[in-house]
Amino acid sequence: ETKIWYVDNPVNKEEVYPQIVDAAKNLQLGQVVAFPTETVYGLGANALSDEAVQRIFQAKGRPSDNPLIVHIANEEQLDHLVEEIPLNAKKLMDAFWPGPLTLILKSKKHVSKYVTAGLSTVGIRMPDHPVALALIEACNLPIAAPSANTSGKPSPTSAKHVFEDLNGQIVGIVDGGSTGVGLESTVIDCSQDIFTILRPGSITPEMIKEIIPTVEVDPATMKENEAPKSPGMKYKHYAPDAQMHLVNGSIEFMHKLIHNSKTEGKRVGILTTEENATKYDADVVLTCGKRSDLSTVAAALYDCIRQFNEEHVDIIYCETFPYEGIGIAIMNRLWKACGHSVIQE
Ligand code: TXA
Ligand code: MG
Repeated sequence: ETKIWYVDNPVNKEEVYPQIVDAAKNLQLGQVVAFPTETVYGLGANALSDEAVQRIFQAKGRPSDNPLIVHIANEEQLDHLVEEIPLNAKKLMDAFWPGPLTLILKSKKHVSKYVTAGLSTVGIRMPDHPVALALIEACNLPIAAPSANTSGKPSPTSAKHVFEDLNGQIVGIVDGGSTGVGLESTVIDCSQDIFTILRPGSITPEMIKEIIPTVEVDPATMKENEAPKSPGMKYKHYAPDAQMHLVNGSIEFMHKLIHNSKTEGKRVGILTTEENATKYDADVVLTCGKRSDLSTVAAALYDCIRQFNEEHVDIIYCETFPYEGIGIAIMNRLWKACGHSVIQE
């Protein structure tokens, strides 16, 4: 049975929390512990121990060629992990850390090869969450952590999601409430002369361009038949049990799709926003934030996708979002959750 360590948010820097001390001790002993970050819950283990990191892969059922992100609480920890820090990478750290940005840098040898999946680079991020930072400080270790879901499922945005997926597989979950951003960090490869965004997130290309002049976006984030540069981007991900389709069309077109699926005897789910919630005559209509503020859509997205499983729908139609700001990350995750299925009016 997996233990739950409740921690009230926000954590007071001066106070010692016995729950966090206990969780940190387990990390030092090579155990796997789930913890909240500002993006999604992470499944943490000592990044310097092969044994500890292998336990993460076991618990998640994660393919071993998919590298993990190492989480740090201060920049001193960075020197032990990476060979060199390009000036532009330093500028990004100064601008966005702590925060939802992962930098891919040249790795030092003693980082577990299970973390890097044998690559010469390692992904590093300093999360902007008081519980995550307190936990990393308390164990005084770099913490390798993928999202704390079973491989293929949507990333967990609450301790309940983690418990659903991993109860019995890990020693414990630090429960610090719901995460804020709701989508995983932006991943940027800083190991080449021109930096490339491998995974879009809430730190948008526009925000990055304000700090460094040129940045590319890996075309595989949105196009089929492109070989992704980030191993994790090639896997089926974030998927609900039922087939989901992105629908690029009018409300009338959506009505036709709903009608046709109902005629086939299917139980139909719709993923929509507050603005359009009353417009559909489907079996299950789930509202995911407000279209007028896309950060609310990001925050609610994975919980909505998980709810469809509880509602036992046969097919899901999902609205599309503007391809700008955090909308880029939302569309990337939906596109993957739909197995790239887009229905065009
Ligand atoms: O917000 C987040 O990033 C969350 C929280 C827990 O910090 N973590 C997360 O980890 O989303 P994960 O393992 O689910 O996703 C890590 C992504 C994968 O797509 C992986 O392939 C990529 O980062 N990645 C990690 N190291 C890499 C490397 N050296 N080169 C290229 N891609 C890398
Ligand atoms: Mg993940």
